[in-house]
Amino acid sequence: MVIIGAGVAGLTLATFLRRSGVSCIVLERRDRATIEVRQRAGVVEARGVQMFERWGLADKLLAGPVAHTIDYRINGVGRIFGVVADGGSQSRFCTQQMLVNNLLRELVDVMSGDVRFNVADVMIRNDLNGRPAVTYSDARGEHELACGYIVGCDGNRGVSRASIPDGVLTSYTHEFGYAWLAALVEAPVVGHPIMGVSDRGFVAQLPRGPKMSRYYLQCALNDGLADWPDQRIWDEIRLRLREQTIENAAVHDKDVVPLRCVVHVPMQYRNLFLAGDAAHLASPTGAKGMNLALYDVDVLAQALVRAVRDRDETGLTNYSDTVLPHIWKYQEFSVWMTDTMHDAGDPTQHGTFRQMIARARLDNLFESSTAARLHTELQRGLN
Ligand code: FAD
Ligand code: PHB
Repeated sequence: MVIIGAGVAGLTLATFLRRSGVSCIVLERRDRATIEVRQRAGVVEARGVQMFERWGLADKLLAGPVAHTIDYRINGVGRIFGVVADGGSQSRFCTQQMLVNNLLRELVDVMSGDVRFNVADVMIRNDLNGRPAVTYSDARGEHELACGYIVGCDGNRGVSRASIPDGVLTSYTHEFGYAWLAALVEAPVVGHPIMGVSDRGFVAQLPRGPKMSRYYLQCALNDGLADWPDQRIWDEIRLRLREQTIENAAVHDKDVVPLRCVVHVPMQYRNLFLAGDAAHLASPTGAKGMNLALYDVDVLAQALVRAVRDRDETGLTNYSDTVLPHIWKYQEFSVWMTDTMHDAGDPTQHGTFRQMIARARLDNLFESSTAARLHTELQRGLN
């Protein structure tokens, strides 16, 4: 088994397989140090927590506070949404960086898993006749790995999906028409995490560990980093949150992220299976990107173990059909969150009718226990 990509999907899959006694090789083009410092998503939903508990790994891999409240703020007026408690596992503000570091420790340092960093020229052979194989090069030369199955966990721009011949996949894409300026700052969330509607555009502040937070500011699709010097970021945060007392802090990292949702169907071709961002992208407003990657590899790990141990490929044959209904449900949630949080603010994009609809949707969350329960289920990934 060869897994391409040592992101959250590839490392989780390899860890599950190794714990099940199935050996695999992970090929990663970056070095370990680069992967260890990459800052991305911030929430492991309750379904993901339950999944790690089921695999006996939650204590080793997860950290960070329970995510049970969010301040949905409109032009400075906050309303705290409390997750409807049912006594089960709760979502955690566990950063992707923390999870990836813990996976590397468990898989590479504790279980001596085979993760090959700094590889180049990865190519897939997945013909109808002959054994599947992956070729790659590194500092020692060129290599070929013959294998039973190949899993593409190499993100949106990887080689796995690109290796599938034209005409096999259908790609469904939704572009929102705006972007986020994402800034990692040296200031913690004080009080509740914030999703903020504003007539100047969306703003959010989400925790990234005890000392840092990630701010998101809606911006134009064609904005570049030069349009967002640190001073403008802080001025906009104060204006959008209507909190003039917020002080500037160090900005460690910033990026302009276009908001889009994409699903590539089917998520498999012959002996190649796609998981995570290689198969789908979710706009970040719903915090589902990393969680869908975790969902895919949970299903895939069980199917691969059955195929190797019991020579039963039913789970693999059905992989795409099994996961896609869940993927679409959480694309719907991501679109709902993105439309609601942005339309409710600045009406220049979609008009005042959509603005009032979006505000009515937010009111529902606070005025209908049924709406609140559904929202909680979707946030927790348990729908
Ligand atoms: P990745 O984490 O992208 O991992 C893919 C791995 O494959 C990488 O290590 C890459 O180096 C490797 N790779 C790529 N090509 C090759 C190749 N040819 N050969 C070998 N290895 C290869 N979601 C949120 O909810 N909130 C956020 O704030 C957020 N921020 C994000 C910021 C960025 C910059 C990105 C890219 C995504 C962000 N996401 C966020 C989405 C979330 O992080 C992804 O959904 C998640 O990382 C998917 O995991 P993955 O393992 O499928 O892909
Ligand atoms: C995040 O931590 O990036 C995050 C959290 C909750 C959301 C969206 C993003 O709804």
